[in-house]
Amino acid sequence: MPLICFASPKGGVGKTTLSANVADLLRRDGRSVVALDLDPQNSLRLHFGMSVAEQDGFAAHLPQRPQWRGHLRQAPSGTLLLPHGAVTLREALDNAVALENDPELLAAPLREMLADPNVLVVADMPPGPSQALSILTPMANLIVTVLRSEAISAAMLAEIEAGRFLGTGTMKALFSGRLQFVLNAVDLRDRLSRAAAEAVARHLGSRLLGAVSQDGAVGEAVAAQRLLEPASRAGGELRQIAAAIEALLASQDRPAPRQEQPHEAAAWAAPQWETR
Ligand SMILES: Nc1ncnc2c1ncn2[C@@H]1O[C@H](COP(=O)(O)OP(=O)(O)OP(=O)(O)O)[C@@H](O)[C@H]1O
Ligand SMILES: [Mg+2]
Repeated sequence: MPLICFASPKGGVGKTTLSANVADLLRRDGRSVVALDLDPQNSLRLHFGMSVAEQDGFAAHLPQRPQWRGHLRQAPSGTLLLPHGAVTLREALDNAVALENDPELLAAPLREMLADPNVLVVADMPPGPSQALSILTPMANLIVTVLRSEAISAAMLAEIEAGRFLGTGTMKALFSGRLQFVLNAVDLRDRLSRAAAEAVARHLGSRLLGAVSQDGAVGEAVAAQRLLEPASRAGGELRQIAAAIEALLASQDRPAPRQEQPHEAAAWAAPQWETR
């Protein structure tokens, strides 16, 4: 039932990496998790070992009202994935216009997914403001805003607080505690990275869910098209962030996650794919 969106005011900060790994960690906690890619870059699938050659997906076809269940794929780990699907620039623009004219194209299938009390949806959003984020913001239990530990994040704090990158529904999210933050790629050996992390952490206070170190294991995992090793530094920190997310969801008075294996949701008949 819960919806968690990973968003950011700027690109390349780690949204897709964090969405994929947090989705899988929440699955390990006993939830049925759907990882939903709403970014036309179509890269969430790569973290789950889906073949580069498999290009189709759900959001690419939104104007044609696709059946989302038909696009579900089950990763070897058990996480269910709705890949975006490859689109040309023209198609991406047309889809954005279609969503602007008819937000129900996305809102309706999301409501259907969230109607299942055992399912948690983790959505990887495009960088910056987007029509998709405007539509999902009012529906989301949590909007996890990813900031890189760099000077620009500290410089953008006023912009971030204004919530302009979230589009409509912003102020409600800001004041209801649903807007949370993660600092990514913290390098404590780098003076500027450390200063930026300290400034952002001081400013955000309890709205900071956690921080993830700059860790070579992240790039290695992507190169091998797999999720992060839990024993890696960033893997351990992501574990803590997933736990903080669980705690926040529990505090929102949602049903507690089930402890048994979650894969009744695979009754949606998500086919397995070959790992690379
Ligand atoms: N903690 C980290 N340590 C080292 N490298 C990282 C870390 N987090 C992310 N990266 C690297 O940074 C790059 C961008 O990450 P990612 O694609 O997840 O960002 P994004 O916010 O989804 O980007 P976009 O806005 O383009 O969608 C990738 O090469 C990723 O491997
Ligand atoms: Mg991304």
